[in-house]
Amino acid sequence: MALAPAAGQRRQDMAQDSEIARGDGTARSARTFTGAGQRGTRPGRLWGWIESRTGIRALAYAVPEHANTIWYILGGITFMAILISVASGVWIAQYYNPDPAAARESVLFIQNEALLGDVMRGIHIWSAYIAVIGAVLHMVRVFITASYKAPREVNWLVGVGLLGLIMFGAFFTGTVLRWDQEAYEAMVHNMELASLLGAFGGFFSDAFTTSVSMLPRLYIAHVSIVPLLLVFLLIAHIFLIKYHGISPTPAQEEAGEAPGGKLPKERQTASYATHARKMLGYGLVVLGLAGTLAVLLPGAIGAAPDPAMEITKPSPIYYWMYTPEAWFGVNGVLYAAIVFFGLLVLVPFLDRTPLRRLRRRPLMLGLGGVLVVALTVLTIITAVTPVVSHLE
Ligand code: HEM
Repeated sequence: MALAPAAGQRRQDMAQDSEIARGDGTARSARTFTGAGQRGTRPGRLWGWIESRTGIRALAYAVPEHANTIWYILGGITFMAILISVASGVWIAQYYNPDPAAARESVLFIQNEALLGDVMRGIHIWSAYIAVIGAVLHMVRVFITASYKAPREVNWLVGVGLLGLIMFGAFFTGTVLRWDQEAYEAMVHNMELASLLGAFGGFFSDAFTTSVSMLPRLYIAHVSIVPLLLVFLLIAHIFLIKYHGISPTPAQEEAGEAPGGKLPKERQTASYATHARKMLGYGLVVLGLAGTLAVLLPGAIGAAPDPAMEITKPSPIYYWMYTPEAWFGVNGVLYAAIVFFGLLVLVPFLDRTPLRRLRRRPLMLGLGGVLVVALTVLTIITAVTPVVSHLE
């Protein structure tokens, strides 16, 4: 008996909190989010119970209107693609064997015999592509709206780390696990690059230990080290987004409406609940898209690796590095990565004016343009040229 009024009071307090957070006192979206409109009905009572026990209403905090447009949900869509990739990865890991003598056979087992193996493997591969493409599009949005400017420079750097991690940690190690010809060549590249890095590359080289071969070590990286780092960086990214709030639009900032790079409370008239709902909706679209692609374009499994040959190109995601490799040898991969990621790291420190519209930031307009043209041209050259032998 004594607990009931306390829970009711807590609910009332939380409702007031979300009204205060909205600044305009209407709490319209908070009510929609919590389903309070249907109080008295069975689903309404169930939802009320969930709210009071979990505090989910706290998600209905105020955000600027533009935060709920697709451009500002691209990061959330990338997040959903990562979640789908993790869930499908857990499924196929039940059937994968990282022993080099059995790895490729186990991938064939996943594709042809395991329960839902082909669909889950396809969803895993395609959601990984969607995550990389989503992260790049999200970064382009942040770049165009100059959201990396003070006070969000550190979050831009965390983002660069996330991009590197999903492209070279998750995606790359995943490619090697297939243990066909392309996978094997990717791993040999990994080892040659490690030797170029000297002491820094030790961990990624074959010589690090004689007790476990490279494939099981890359598997451990793929299923534990990389996901742990990803969780750590995502927590930092999300903390900083919450701490600084979503950046104002370039027009709002240049009109002086956002002192300190943040819209005042009374201008934040939308709800994060809407953002979260849209994110879940787009997440279902990503799942549907990955599932459809899994059926229409199942992930290929090449011939068993032959160490004497070099016959494949990497995944299209790395095409921009393959052409520099043809020009400079394996060093070319390193040069391409250093130039690309080095420029990304420099962005917030090169562009320090308060101007936010892209057309008023000629240096960034030029840098962005040069990068897009260079990446496109390098990718096209790789696509139209025959395979070249790069390895010693
Ligand atoms: C794994 C990849 C990533 C995930 C899951 C992710 C997630 C998010 C989410 C959910 C937001 C909130 C708003 C939005 O969606 O735009 C955001 C904001 C932000 N992200 Fe990312 N992000 C990723 C990669 C990146 C990259 C590659 C960069 C840049 C190099 C970056 C820089 C930023 C910045 C500066 C903000 C604040 C933007 C603002 O306040 O307008 N993120 N991110």
